[in-house]
This record gives sequence, C-alpha cells and structure tokens, in this order.
Amino acid sequence: MQSGRPILLGVNIDHAATLRQARYRGTHLSIHAEPSPLAFAREAMAAGADGITIHLREDRRHIQPEDVFAIAALPGVRLNLEMACTPAMIEFAQKLKPAAVCLVPESREEVTTEGGLDVAGQLSRVSETVKMLSAIGSEVSLFIGAEAHQLEAAKKTKAPVVEIHTGAFANAWQSPQAAEELERLKQGCERAHQLGFIVNAGHGINYDNIKAILALPHLNELNIGHTIVSRALMVGARQAVAEMKAHLRAAR
Ligand code: PXP
Repeated sequence: MQSGRPILLGVNIDHAATLRQARYRGTHLSIHAEPSPLAFAREAMAAGADGITIHLREDRRHIQPEDVFAIAALPGVRLNLEMACTPAMIEFAQKLKPAAVCLVPESREEVTTEGGLDVAGQLSRVSETVKMLSAIGSEVSLFIGAEAHQLEAAKKTKAPVVEIHTGAFANAWQSPQAAEELERLKQGCERAHQLGFIVNAGHGINYDNIKAILALPHLNELNIGHTIVSRALMVGARQAVAEMKAHLRAAR
C-alpha cells in the first residue's frame, strides 16, 4: 500500500447515454429520455465521485452536446471532457471551458499500438491543441499508451497530465499476459512521474482488476466508466460509485 492522499475517482458516464440512445436515438425525446446521464452524474457526485468524465464523440454515439452543457452546469462538478483534436471539438471546448480536457484518438490513424493517442506521430497538432485548451484554463491530459517514446513526445506538448491507457492490461486480465502488461503500466507510470506529469489512468478498469491497478505507482486519478454503469443496473448508481470509491480509499 502507498501512503498519501486517496486516488481520485473520475466517473465516466458515457454508457448511461449509450443505454438511452439504444432506445431513443433519433427521436425528439432523446435528451430527456431515460436513463438520464445528468441524473447519473448527480448520483455519482453524491456518492463521492471526484469528477465526471464524458466523451463527446464526433459520431455522437452516446453523449450529446446538450448533455455536456447540462452536466457542466451541475453545482460543484469537476468536468473532464474527453475529445478528439479536431477544430470542431476545440471550438466546442472553448465555449464550454471545462475544468479538464483529455485528448483521445477517434480515428484509426491517430492510434498507437497500445490504443492511445499517437502523440509522437502528430506532435504539432497535439501541441497546438494543448496550447489552445490551456489558454482557456482547462487542465489538459493526453490519453496515451505507456511507451516511453509517447511519454517523451507528450512532454514536448507541455500538457501537464497524462492518462495511461490500461485497456491492454484489462483485456489480458486472468491470462498469462496480464503480469507483463501490468509491468509495462508500472514502468510507464514511473517514467511519466520522472518526466513531471500528473499521472492518471483508465480504460477497462473494473471491480475485479482494480486491485492490481491500485498497486501502480504515482496515480493521481482513475477514470472508470463501463463497470460502474453496469453495476449501477444492479445496485443503483450511488452504491456502484460508493463501492468503487471504497476500493480507492482502501489503497492509501
Ligand atoms: N479513459 C478514457 C480516456 C476513455 O476513453 C475511457 C472510455 O470512454 C475510459 C477512461 C473509461 O473506460 P471504461 O468505460 O472501460 O471504464
């Protein structure tokens, strides 16, 4: 166990919107239909979520722009907007001015082997985006794989935060590759910390594999979505978030 302040929990509520859109996409009811991502965000905050994370995708497959503005207006919310490095999304973020922005890949060409943003392959585009978003006061993070060359490229962009992609580890969970993936994450967190980044992590973390993830060094925040929304179907959003928060609290 590491000592220090508890790791923060960012609750990604995209899949509350996925469920809503599965039934109401294309109808005039969509934004007001069930389940409400806004209500989910409120419950998550009441249960101790340290932030609410949402991804406004270009294809609008789950979260809609109206959801973003409604959630951003919740009193006391710390909103983390996941977005692609596109002019349209930069313009959207400039209107919204979220507390935090996480730059994520949306198209295949932008993705590294580990599935994170290929910062090294598009350094000037990412750097320019970081600059514009930092200028509106958002804390910018880059969602990247644990590879050293991506972390070093990330440093050049002047982003203060990286979110290390835990998806490959999550997919390898309970297979012989899991230990190797965890070791790669550990080295990535160490390198990110040495480079001076605030170190977040996310993707594919669940109530089971979280125990291994919590052993990673230097973690500031975990962004967790699918498992919490899934558990909420069984026990309600408030309890689902409280259970995850208890895991994070127990780690330090
Ligand atoms: N972090 C980032 C950058 C993501 O894109 C996602 C998925 O939307 C998550 C965390 C959460 O992943 P999951 O829903 O698998 O917990």
